[in-house]
Amino acid sequence: MAPCGLQLLLLIVTAASAEIRFPTLAHLRPAASDEEQTEAVQELCRRLLGSRAGDFVLTVKKPRAEAETFELRSLPDGRVSVLGSSGVAAASGLYSYLRDFCGCHVSWSGRQLDLPTPLPRLPGPLWVTAPNRFRYYQNVCVYSYSFVWWNWERWEKEIDWMALSGINLALAFTGQEAIWQRVYLSLGLTQAEIDSFFVGPAYLAWERMGNMHSWAGPLSYSWNTNQLNLQHQILQRMRSLGMLPVLPAFAGFVPAAFNRLFPKENVTRLSSWGHLNCSYSCSYLLDSESPFFQQIGKMFQLELIQEFGTDHVYSADTFNEMTPRSSDPKYLSSISNAVFKSMTQVDRSAIWLMQGWLFQSSFWRPAQVKALLHGVPLGRMIILDLFADSRPAYLFTESFYGQPFIWCMLHNFGGNTGMYGTVETINRGPFEARAFPNSTMVGTGITPEGIEQNDVVYELMNEIGWCKEPLNLSKWVTSYAQRRYGKKNDGAVTAWLLLFQSVYNNTFYRQDHNKSPLVHRPSLKLDTSLWYNKSHLYEAWKHMQMAASELYSSETFRYDLVDVTRQSVQLLTSEFYEDLKLAFFKHSLVGLQTLGNALIHNLLPDLDDLLSSDKHFLLGHWLETARSLAATEKDANLYEFNARNQITLWGPNGNLLDYANKQWGGLINDYYAPRWELFVSTLVICLEMRVPFNQAHFNQISYKVEQNFTINKVKYPDKPLGNTIEIAKKMFLKYYPQAMKIIN
Ligand SMILES: *[C@@H]1O[C@H](CO)[C@@H](O)[C@H](O)[C@H]1NC(C)=O
Ligand SMILES: *[C@@H]1O[C@H](CO)[C@@H](O)[C@H](O)[C@H]1NC(C)=O
Ligand SMILES: *[C@@H]1O[C@H](CO)[C@@H](O)[C@H](O)[C@H]1NC(C)=O
Ligand SMILES: *[C@@H]1O[C@H](CO)[C@@H](O)[C@H](O)[C@H]1NC(C)=O
Ligand SMILES: *[C@@H]1O[C@H](CO)[C@@H](O)[C@H](O)[C@H]1NC(C)=O
Ligand SMILES: *[C@@H]1O[C@H](CO)[C@@H](O)[C@H](O)[C@H]1NC(C)=O
Ligand SMILES: *[C@@H]1O[C@H](CO)[C@@H](O)[C@H](O)[C@H]1NC(C)=O
Repeated sequence: MAPCGLQLLLLIVTAASAEIRFPTLAHLRPAASDEEQTEAVQELCRRLLGSRAGDFVLTVKKPRAEAETFELRSLPDGRVSVLGSSGVAAASGLYSYLRDFCGCHVSWSGRQLDLPTPLPRLPGPLWVTAPNRFRYYQNVCVYSYSFVWWNWERWEKEIDWMALSGINLALAFTGQEAIWQRVYLSLGLTQAEIDSFFVGPAYLAWERMGNMHSWAGPLSYSWNTNQLNLQHQILQRMRSLGMLPVLPAFAGFVPAAFNRLFPKENVTRLSSWGHLNCSYSCSYLLDSESPFFQQIGKMFQLELIQEFGTDHVYSADTFNEMTPRSSDPKYLSSISNAVFKSMTQVDRSAIWLMQGWLFQSSFWRPAQVKALLHGVPLGRMIILDLFADSRPAYLFTESFYGQPFIWCMLHNFGGNTGMYGTVETINRGPFEARAFPNSTMVGTGITPEGIEQNDVVYELMNEIGWCKEPLNLSKWVTSYAQRRYGKKNDGAVTAWLLLFQSVYNNTFYRQDHNKSPLVHRPSLKLDTSLWYNKSHLYEAWKHMQMAASELYSSETFRYDLVDVTRQSVQLLTSEFYEDLKLAFFKHSLVGLQTLGNALIHNLLPDLDDLLSSDKHFLLGHWLETARSLAATEKDANLYEFNARNQITLWGPNGNLLDYANKQWGGLINDYYAPRWELFVSTLVICLEMRVPFNQAHFNQISYKVEQNFTINKVKYPDKPLGNTIEIAKKMFLKYYPQAMKIIN
């Protein structure tokens, strides 16, 4: 099998793209030499394949054309040659061969690299050319929801995965506060003013976008030093593989103390964000006409480039989820023009990469969008059509009024755990966008808020980035089920076909979150609607369970068994919830107590046991990695608080309560279950006292349970406990009949 359904076409595939070429982007090319990139991709291959790396001859040779290509061929001595136009192209050529000819798989939850000996021979040379210039990765939020506690070892793995997936453009946002710290000091802010401005590590994404400040900080000296070093390692590796790192730029926000230093300056206080009050939000935006705007932008850019070098792409988001002071097109143009000018005054070949998320808001009517986009010369900015998997913005902006854009799959909010996907849309969207009249599309990308969930949709989307026509999804997922576990198993294939028809096939309505009652503060009004037929999920559960006797030794299989069991338990929790409500409305005390008991003392603890048996689902891991980055006990406690608060209350008062919910071992037992217990006991009291359920009062007592979780110091294991296969089997035998009773 070959990528993108090209099995019969083992010949030159040329870029038949309708894409409008932008000469303004021609300078965005890797700076590393062919030799450097060759060495980097060879090292990647050794990390990935160990002693089998010698079976591959990897070479990078820059092309004359812009497009990225790779060429695969079998050598007479049995080795396989991979020639790429960049380190990334060579790495994705390697992965294409491993995937399509050797049945291998690399993902966040594990690897399956059982290589045949000798390597399968290619019938002839295979050339693949990417249909677009860029394959982009990252969302500004992923730095907080997923990357925040990472060390270099974890980053190295991610960058390898990025290269294998063909990512050639990605944010590099780590460590920017260390640069701001220098700029603020030289502007005259005191260290105390800086400390009271910065947020804690788990919230940096929103401080960077001017959404919030001052919450859960300060950042210590050691944090900044550590992140600065990490950023150097990240940049060095990305560049050596021929990826273009995107650095931050000044978007116009200044700390409150700026007003003390420059009382005459024209600074606008923006409105609040995310239900936070003005102690933590309502940022200050400097007037774009103020000379300080250019001065601060210049100071930051100079300091940044001096420290990190540059690849000429910069990211800035001035109005992300924030309403501009005025809708006057002239005002909007002047702001984007000022942001762009502040980039180009230091780097004349700067390209501004901007998230198109803001255009999802009704403030942005055609005249406003056009004004903002035309404040920058055409071709000098790239828009990320961030949520194109659900609501593509290119459609209602005439392809961003001529500015180049990247079609992105957002897929995930807050790093939530649930199974979710829009596989039909992502298998269609990029091709439609490319064929759109006068399309300015220059790439595809993935922009999840959080990662390490739903491996399958990311693998699919990354592959689509190299395709010129849609894939056959049932065929693709059949092969996925085999590659992922290294063995063909009919049960697993059936399960995956069912999952692709159901949880991964949302074609009905927008479902941006895990809405499951399991992970939300109880009330009598929770949403239990689904976009799929639950019979399909339960049936997939059965088939995965049956496959366990053959596939138990595969790490990725065990992960999927946990995930599909977890998703089934999540559905059962909704059933319990509906039944609890019914018992309450029927005034059945016995019903409430029986159901409550079964949910709180059986189902949820069983789920906690299951999750605790897999290293990818551990609260303890999240907390321990947070603590491990601290230089002092005080910092360790602060980081742990950041880590606990983000996944639960999200803010001092539950401002974005449960937005970043997770289903993790430890969290079910000590956060979700106590809250459900409180709910059931409150309903019982209401029945006994013959009073209605009072949500406002419940919110108050629930907050105490939630807050207790964010401040207590209970330790959770950082290593899995128990045998996944046995626990999953026990749960299947116990709960599957219940699931069947509900359906029938
Ligand atoms: C501040 O800036 C706004 C918008 O640029 C402008 O309308 C206003 O007159 C300015 N105020 C002062 C005091 O300069
Ligand atoms: C904002 O909320 C925090 C936490 O509840 C509180 O301490 C603070 O006084 C509030 N600030 C304002 C300006 O209301
Ligand atoms: C595409 O661009 C051409 C040239 O600018 C223009 O004449 C034409 O109307 C555009 N087509 C559409 C569908 O916007
Ligand atoms: C997709 O592949 C399956 C085999 O997995 C085949 O049965 C089906 O006809 C294919 N569909 C199309 C539209 O080619
Ligand atoms: C997704 O659902 C649509 C509509 O029900 C259906 O036509 C399609 O075959 C499904 N896709 C997969 C991969 O099962
Ligand atoms: C859900 O799937 C089952 C099994 O395939 C089928 O019997 C049932 O009719 C489906 N339900 C709906 C609402 O489509
Ligand atoms: C606070 O959390 C701890 C640890 O989970 C628990 O033992 C204790 O009962 C909780 N206290 C309250 C008041 O919820």
